[in-house]
Amino acid sequence: MKTQVGIIGGGPAGLLLSQILHVAGIDSVILERQSRDYVLSRIRAGVLEQGLVDMLRAVDVAGRLDREGEVHTGVNLAFDGRVEHIDLEGLTGGKTVTVFGQTEVTRDLYDARDAMGGTVVHEAADVTPHGFDGGTPSLTYRKDGMEHRVDCDFIAACDGYHGVGRQSFPPGTIREYEKTYPFGWLGILSRTKPVDEELIYANHERGFVLCSMRSQVLSRYYVQVPAAADIADWSDDRFWDELRARLPASVADVLETGPSIEKSIAPLRSYVAEPLNHGRLFLAGDAGHIVPPTGAKGLNLAASDVHYLSEGLIGYYRTGDETGLKSYSERALRRIWKAERFSWWMTMLMHRFPEEGGFGMKVQQAELDYLTGSTAAKTAMAENYVGLPY
Ligand code: APR
Ligand code: PHB
Repeated sequence: MKTQVGIIGGGPAGLLLSQILHVAGIDSVILERQSRDYVLSRIRAGVLEQGLVDMLRAVDVAGRLDREGEVHTGVNLAFDGRVEHIDLEGLTGGKTVTVFGQTEVTRDLYDARDAMGGTVVHEAADVTPHGFDGGTPSLTYRKDGMEHRVDCDFIAACDGYHGVGRQSFPPGTIREYEKTYPFGWLGILSRTKPVDEELIYANHERGFVLCSMRSQVLSRYYVQVPAAADIADWSDDRFWDELRARLPASVADVLETGPSIEKSIAPLRSYVAEPLNHGRLFLAGDAGHIVPPTGAKGLNLAASDVHYLSEGLIGYYRTGDETGLKSYSERALRRIWKAERFSWWMTMLMHRFPEEGGFGMKVQQAELDYLTGSTAAKTAMAENYVGLPY
């Protein structure tokens, strides 16, 4: 098989890149190691920056998003028994975020790829990049007991943190920056009315909680738990009791509970690999970086990587200009590090760090009190939360 861009990974980054390239007349093939059902079974965050919404609209994949997505003009911080509203729209001159499940974005991207005759190979095993150091890149993989090969001009590794792309860089060519956090997020999905029209991030001495949603009838909640927490120790009742205990009374009193339809624990990590390319192999999305979910940046960073990489590829195929490809890593990393900083800042501000003791808690309270009382500080938070320019 021959194509122009070989893409490893059929998650949001790989699918969005393939869709943008197709609309620009550039051929690509996606090799995904899981089945489509498996990919679509993943429960992921769903706060979309305007940049991602605009990208989806530009390639005609925003129909359902525009019908069903909920525009949020603000977000809430809860601490010290009170709830403080951050007016995202007012503080950023009109910018907002849209709440629409990442799984739904992925589903719509798959549907668009199918409708445009895109090639997505599922259950492609042992995908391996070759020849990306020189000018003859290719991807090999196994499927149905047979070896296959895709000859291409470029390889985009959109294969997530555990993917093969980054691991294929020659030894010593990648610098890695990492921070792990001593806790995880225990998340629950329930067919209940969200406790508030907007998201609530809560700092409490028992630990962090987040009140989010997928729609007005589907709620998503998270509770900070120790990194070694066992999901078997968390019944629904225990989850709801802990969530209530960490919320201000005004919120806890109106919390609607119900059976969980999904419950899982996710670790928190900050990670960046530099550079994001080696020869004609490019990393995009979680393949190159991971953020703690506190700032809702994971999907949105995948989108800005794809924006920069697609610009470089389109420039190359249209005019032979390699400027965009040569500057991809530097351009993407500048925005990635700002999102890493913001995600780290919100994580450090909102979670309990027992090792920091009472002093750490009081300093967090003081920063939250300052933040919610200062237009300058709220503006800084708001412009990062809605998404910095590409
Ligand atoms: N070969 C083929 N496919 C692979 C391989 C491999 N060796 N390794 C991983 N994959 C596939 C995974 O099965 C997954 O479907 O690559 C895809 C990567 O998708 P994501 O992990 O969703 O990463 P990305 O597309 O960058 O999207 C980032 O998704 O994980 C969330 O929080 C993250 O919101 C962020 C967004
Ligand atoms: C979610 O709805 O899953 C979600 C929302 C905001 C975050 C993280 C997760 O910061």
